[in-house]
Amino acid sequence: MPGLFGDSPLRDDLPVNRAFADIPQDEPVVETEPGFEGKLHAFNLFKYLSRSDVTWNPSVTSVCRESLFCPTTEEYVLPIIHGNDRVEWFVQLSDEIEWEVADKETGKPRARILMKAGDVAAMPADIRHQGYSTKRSMLLVWENARLDLPKLYESGKLKPYPVEF
Ligand SMILES: [Fe+2]
Repeated sequence: MPGLFGDSPLRDDLPVNRAFADIPQDEPVVETEPGFEGKLHAFNLFKYLSRSDVTWNPSVTSVCRESLFCPTTEEYVLPIIHGNDRVEWFVQLSDEIEWEVADKETGKPRARILMKAGDVAAMPADIRHQGYSTKRSMLLVWENARLDLPKLYESGKLKPYPVEF
C-alpha cells in the first residue's frame, strides 16, 4: 500500500498538478504505542492524488480482503468505453465528472449522470460507461475484486445492482 515500507512511494518526487494547487500537502502525524511501530500507517490521500501523473488509471490504495479502494484522477475523456463486469461504486472526491451510461450489450443509452464533489453512485454490473471531466478531478473507485463475480452476474445468480429499494 502507498507509503508502507517497501511498497508504493507517496509521489513526493512528482509535482502537484496545477488543477490541485490548493490541496494541502502536509502528512498526518502518526503516533504508535510501543510494539506497533511499522504496523500503523496513514497518509494524505488528497496530496497523493494531487501528484498523480496519470488520468483514468485507478491505483489500489487500500485492501480489506477483496474490497479495494482505487482512487484516481480524471481529465478530458476516458479513452475507452468501459464495460463493467461487476458493480463499481464511485465517490466523487472533487470537482465534477459527467458519465454516459449505456446497456453493456446493446449500447442503448441508459443514463447521463453529472457527479459533483461528494456524490456517490453505484454503477451496475451490466452497463458500459464513458466519463468526461472538464477540469481535472479526483474519483474514488471502490470495487470487490472477487474472481468469481463476473460469472455470478452473467449467470443471473447476482442482480446487476447492489441494492433494491
Ligand atoms: Fe467501469
